[in-house]
Amino acid sequence: MKLYHAPASPFVRKVMVLIHEAKATDRVTLVPVSGHPLDPGTLPVDRNPLGKIPALERGDSPTLYDSRVITRYLDQTLQAGLYPPAPRLWDTLTLEATGDGIAEAAVLIRYETAVRPEPSRSSDWADAQWQKIDRALTAIEERWMSHLSGPLDMGQIAVGCALGYIDFRLGDRDWRGGRAALAAWHTAFAARPAMLATAPST
Ligand code: BEZ
Repeated sequence: MKLYHAPASPFVRKVMVLIHEAKATDRVTLVPVSGHPLDPGTLPVDRNPLGKIPALERGDSPTLYDSRVITRYLDQTLQAGLYPPAPRLWDTLTLEATGDGIAEAAVLIRYETAVRPEPSRSSDWADAQWQKIDRALTAIEERWMSHLSGPLDMGQIAVGCALGYIDFRLGDRDWRGGRAALAAWHTAFAARPAMLATAPST
């Protein structure tokens, strides 16, 4: 399998954490790519018409894209066990969607402040994205801590990767204030070997 990869992407990181947790790094070849919404660069637009990563090539079968599709596929193929049976599955998927939504909003803030040409930038728009993140983090602190403390799953991995991305790209935003439980969880989760091996970089 070939994974189109950029080391800063929180969505690529989710897939990489799964691969490390499954001890299957030898099953996947990484294809480094780069680009952004204003310049697709080497992003695999022939493999994913949306021009987004991660994308996973599987020999003769169609390329998979969208991190949640890829993580479901790899979980089954590598028998990683990161999606529990229902009814817990519904919580895992909802938490994964919450983590992904936080990461999406954080990437949009990054694009707004680093990619969009200066005269068109909107701090109101970036702040609105942050409000979304803020609400989601409060919801996690209030409702999801017991799930985060349970057996490892893709919901936890998505939240861990989203928080790691905020620290990496939006380090001036204080997400830990008033969220002592989530902050402590993240410190412990970030020390997992699979998280250390996939820390974001440029
Ligand atoms: C980043 O450089 O922040 C980034 C790269 C790829 C996807 C998303 C974000």
